[in-house]
Amino acid sequence: MIRSERQAALETIAEEVRTCTRCRLHETRTRAVPGEGDPSTEVVFIGEGPGMNEDRQGRPFVGRAGDLLVRLLGSIGWRREDVFITNIVKCRPPDNRDPEADEIAACQPYLHRQLQVIDPAVVVTLGRHSMGRFMPGARISQAHGTMRPADPETGAAAALVFAMYHPAAALRTPAIERESYVDIAQVPTALLAARERRAARDRAVPPPPPPAPSPVAVAAESPDAPGSALSTDQLTLF
Ligand code: URA
Ligand code: SF4
Repeated sequence: MIRSERQAALETIAEEVRTCTRCRLHETRTRAVPGEGDPSTEVVFIGEGPGMNEDRQGRPFVGRAGDLLVRLLGSIGWRREDVFITNIVKCRPPDNRDPEADEIAACQPYLHRQLQVIDPAVVVTLGRHSMGRFMPGARISQAHGTMRPADPETGAAAALVFAMYHPAAALRTPAIERESYVDIAQVPTALLAARERRAARDRAVPPPPPPAPSPVAVAAESPDAPGSALSTDQLTLF
């Protein structure tokens, strides 16, 4: 899919989320929060659910937890608009209670479709509820800072999942905040590993041979055409 197609597909999902009534959370929300970011990104961050500020603005991670997420991203030279940020449930649970199992299940098709469209190389889970979807049975105190292949059933067909603490937990506990900086510093390495895995997968299933080049295409080819040398793009992360 090209960028404009991904953008349109994500907007279709977002429109459905904004009017969704599939679970009781629609009764108490102000605005649903579908998620936002670069439709062509390689990295998706997944939180738990909107809080008060997110519910008012219809955008993910715009309160204090969001400010910390932006600082964490900044510590590795990334900006929030370089990645895609969304949540396990798209509507705010009242009084910021934990989302319930039936609410998570009702909302799950939206995240699944978002992941299918973006096809990320890395999924970063923020907190226990998000980790629970991608690393069932893991304990956050042990799993944070680690990665494993995503189950393709999640919609992320060829991603590595990297677990982190929730930024709100980091705001409450300085030791968790310090560990969060250590953890996020490993995400670029996870991205390189994920790219290598995807490249190996693509080599295992060779694409169909390209059509024979036309005389015009041959004439247009320059010495530094893609593929003729190691592209420096492979060394920069965005
Ligand atoms: N916490 C979350 O889990 N998600 C948000 O969007 C904001 C705060
Ligand atoms: Fe729909 Fe998800 Fe909101 Fe529930 S939380 S109403 S399933 S968008």
